[in-house]
Amino acid sequence: MIKSIILAAGEGTRMKSKKPKGLHRISGKTMIDYVIDSASKAGIEENILVVGHKKEEVVNTISNKDTITVSQPMGEDVPYGTGFAVMQAKDYIDKDSYILILYGDTPLITKNTLDGLISYHKREDNVATVLTAEFDDPKGYGRIVRDENNRVLSIVEDKDAKDHQKTIKEINSGIYCFNGKHLNEVLDNLTNDNAQNEYYITDAIAILNQAGYKVGGYKIDDISDIFGVNSRVQLAEAEEIMRKRINAQFMLSGATIIDPNNTYIEESVEIGRDTTIYPGVIIKGNTKIGDDCVIGHNCRIENSKIGNGVEIQSSTIIDSEVDDGTKVGPYAYLRPNSSIGKNVKIGDFVEVKNATIGDNSKASHLAYIGDAEVGSNVNIGCGVVFVNYDGAKKYKTIVEDNAFVGSNSNLIAPVLVKKDGYIAAGSTITDEVPSGALSIARARQVNKEGWKEKNKK
Ligand code: UD1
Ligand code: CA
Repeated sequence: MIKSIILAAGEGTRMKSKKPKGLHRISGKTMIDYVIDSASKAGIEENILVVGHKKEEVVNTISNKDTITVSQPMGEDVPYGTGFAVMQAKDYIDKDSYILILYGDTPLITKNTLDGLISYHKREDNVATVLTAEFDDPKGYGRIVRDENNRVLSIVEDKDAKDHQKTIKEINSGIYCFNGKHLNEVLDNLTNDNAQNEYYITDAIAILNQAGYKVGGYKIDDISDIFGVNSRVQLAEAEEIMRKRINAQFMLSGATIIDPNNTYIEESVEIGRDTTIYPGVIIKGNTKIGDDCVIGHNCRIENSKIGNGVEIQSSTIIDSEVDDGTKVGPYAYLRPNSSIGKNVKIGDFVEVKNATIGDNSKASHLAYIGDAEVGSNVNIGCGVVFVNYDGAKKYKTIVEDNAFVGSNSNLIAPVLVKKDGYIAAGSTITDEVPSGALSIARARQVNKEGWKEKNKK
């Protein structure tokens, strides 16, 4: 069995945040969730998360509820360090398991790299393997010390490194694969006799090596995988890498993204083939977009289902559905629980909330449609307001199929416009409009002849 121990107890002071570091998000998902998901994808059957600073918040926020959490005691008088953190998970380290050590602040780690590390560890028959890479600027990282035969001897921390060791470019990613038996043994032998008075997990490598066990280093070329986030500057850098990865995935599965550097799509989204996405678009959460759609610039779409051949321009759609062939925007706002049928037009400055709109209906400009059921082939004129709120309660409006609501009308809910009903422009409708009738609800025009001349004097 392969298990992971994910270290996430530290405070992350350099983030300057009220939030624990691992809960900061990259493309909408917490760093810790990325690590857990990559581990799960690599076939790790049990993830043990070491929490400490603001642990309740961490436990409550992570998505994978099968994750086992253990707490690291925090405070001035208790020990600290990555080695001490791993000790907290000791009960879960059984001798026949492989144990991966991962960090909650190294979110870009992929399944492929973990697969590579695990198979290298097994193939080499190591008891411990550290994941490494060459950095042009290795400052701040632990360095990998090798002998003349290129065998790994130890890891030395930046703060403890001698000058000649500081020139080593091969760094410790902080990610390891251990044999459970040997990890257990070595945890009892760690000391805090170093520059930071911390228990370092890195010391495990030298201790096992000196005890005559085989340890090794698995060096990777793509260093983005082990990018660590310590500050918000690095958080933005990680976001950029993740954005590129996610957008590449969507493009490889058939969507056109005009400018992937300026398109923000969460991993959880689904997009069909031959859909084109323009710059400045944000698509979040549980959103599904069909084939052959055009998502124009600066749209924001969250938790919504968009059919095939839909065209959306500069609009916001939240928790709603838009069916095939419909056009939305520019500058439309579909608020939660709106369901728009096929071949509908929701034009500029139209706001829809908690409403269904049937096939082939149109609200081409400047309307508010709230708490409503609108049938098919309905025309909602310019400036129509569904007056759904009396200051205390919300009421519903029903407009049946083929009805015509003239421009600048108010429908005072609760009210019913029956099939084929016509409402004259400028009407304020308070009573039912019968089927096939024309309702005119406005003051008659009065013309006062010669008014201007008379008023001159
Ligand atoms: C560590 C490594 C270093 C490596 C670097 C890679 C050690 C001693 N050093 O240094 O060789 O190059 O990572 O990024 O291991 N944590 C706990 N409890 C603790 C201390 C840390 O859970 O008591 C967690 C932190 O929340 C963090 C992770 O362990 O997620 C790494 O801790 P951090 O202090 O950032 O280690 P580095 O100094 O970066
Ligand atoms: Ca770190």
